[in-house]
Amino acid sequence: MKVGIYPGSFDPITNGHLDIIKRGAKVFDELIVGVLVNVDKKGLLEIEERVELIKKVTKDIPNVRVQSFTGLLVDCMKETKASVILKGLRAVSDFEYEFQMALMNNKLDPEVETVFMMTSAEYSYLSSSAVKQVAKFGGCIEGLVPDEVIPIVINKIKAK
Ligand code: PNS
Repeated sequence: MKVGIYPGSFDPITNGHLDIIKRGAKVFDELIVGVLVNVDKKGLLEIEERVELIKKVTKDIPNVRVQSFTGLLVDCMKETKASVILKGLRAVSDFEYEFQMALMNNKLDPEVETVFMMTSAEYSYLSSSAVKQVAKFGGCIEGLVPDEVIPIVINKIKAK
């Protein structure tokens, strides 16, 4: 059984992330969405909120599992029996950072492979940070994130 892991901060999940999850679920027997608990960086959404939202928007994909993790991704992979890291690539600008991470993860555990999926063209400009910035200044985030995510992001930003 081939288990893949799609790691990220998902603060919040975007339609670009969801696109990779849907396509990744067709490639792996099981796909784990790994939500990083970053102790150094307080995000907009709490980790539990991010996990719940991803669970909600992936509920119809039976081979997708969502969980949070702390520490090294390779350690989470050992625990979850995942052997492949799935990452989305939007543009050449993503490459350097992703290349470095792929090499580091492979150095930490030579059994670990990273595979890259090209983000669908319609989402190539999308990022969680851009969504938060647009929402912060009152712009419309419809179509950028799943519908369930919109009120949560807007309310969180208002409450800040
Ligand atoms: O969505 P992001 O913030 O770009 O995701 C980054 C993530 C979570 C994939 C990366 O920061 C990560 O894997 N962190 C876990 C710590 C780790 O394993 N570091 C070693 C690889 S450089």
